[in-house]
Amino acid sequence: MTVEIDLAGRVALVTGAGAGIGRGVASWFARAGARVAVNDIDPGRAASAAAELVSPAGPALPVPADCRDEAAVEAMVATVCAELGGLDVLVANVGMLPPGTGLAPVTGYGADQWRAVVDQNLVSAALCARAAATVMTTAGTGGVLLFVTSGETTRPAPLNAAYGAAKAAVNHLVTSLAVELGPAGIRACAMAPGTTATETVAAAFTPERMEAIVASTPLRRMVAVDELGPLAVFLASDLARCITGQFVLADAGAFLSRTRPANDEGLRRPPAGSASDA
Ligand SMILES: NC(=O)c1ccc[n+]([C@@H]2O[C@H](COP(=O)([O-])OP(=O)(O)OC[C@H]3O[C@@H](n4cnc5c(N)ncnc54)[C@H](O)[C@@H]3O)[C@@H](O)[C@H]2O)c1
Repeated sequence: MTVEIDLAGRVALVTGAGAGIGRGVASWFARAGARVAVNDIDPGRAASAAAELVSPAGPALPVPADCRDEAAVEAMVATVCAELGGLDVLVANVGMLPPGTGLAPVTGYGADQWRAVVDQNLVSAALCARAAATVMTTAGTGGVLLFVTSGETTRPAPLNAAYGAAKAAVNHLVTSLAVELGPAGIRACAMAPGTTATETVAAAFTPERMEAIVASTPLRRMVAVDELGPLAVFLASDLARCITGQFVLADAGAFLSRTRPANDEGLRRPPAGSASDA
C-alpha cells in the first residue's frame, strides 16, 4: 500500500511565506496539490515566492499584508476566498523578533518592546486564526489552523523571554481553539521548530554558534527549511484527522539538550537587535 498526502481541492494560506520556513512550508502544500496563497509583509517577497510555487491545482496567489494589522488580515482572507474559492488551511507562521526588539534581559525590556514581540508572535497569529475560523465556520466545511511556534517554548528563554512567552501563549491558544472550534470540524495544532537554517539565522549566528547548536542536539543537526513542510502537510491532511490541540516539536531533539549555547553566545551582531534563537 502506498500512503500519499493529497491536498487536492484544498486551499492553504501560509503567512510570512516570502522567505524561510514559511516559504518552505508553502512549497510543500503546493506539492501536495493544494491551491496556495502566499502572504508576506513585503509584497516583492510574496510575489516572487508565489511565482516559484508549482501546484497541479494552479498558480499560487500572492497576498501581501502585515499580519499584525487587523483590517489587513480580514482583507487578505477575503481576497483568498474570493480568488481561490474558500480557505481550508491556515498556517500562521509570522513571528521572530520584529525591528526595534532583540535579545535583552527582562529588566531591560520596555513595554514597547514587549508589545512589539507579542504583536508579532501572538496577536498576528490570533488575528489570522479569527479571520480564517470565521470563514471556515460560515462555509461549514471545517478546516485546519496550524501555528509555527518554537522549541524555545520548552525551556526557559533567558534574554529572549518575550519571544518565549509569546510563542508559549500560541501553544496555549491552540488548545483553546481546539475546544472552541472542534465541534465545527476545525482542528488547531502547532509545530515548534528548533533552530532552523534560514537565511535570517545564517546572517545572525556565527559558524561557531551553528556548530555548537549542532553538537548539542541528539541528532547532531539543525533543522533544514525544507523539513517542516512534511509535518505541516501531514497535520493539515485527513491522515491527522484525530489530532487537535497539540504542539509538535521538530527540533532534532534539541529540547533534550543540556549543552545548548546561551542565547547571546556566538551572534554576529550585539544582542540588542539581533535575531532570535529558535
Ligand atoms: N528560524 C528558526 O530557527 C526558527 C526556530 C523556531 C521558530 N521559528 C519561527 O518560525 C517562523 C518563521 O521564521 P523564519 O526563521 O522562517 O523567519 P524569516 O525571517 O526567515 O522569514 C519570515 C518572513 O516573514 C515576513 N514577515 C515578517 N513580519 C511579518 C508580518 N508582520 N506580516 C507578514 N509577514 C511578515 C518576512 O518579510 C519574511 O519574509 C517564525 O514564527 C519564527 O518565530 C523560527
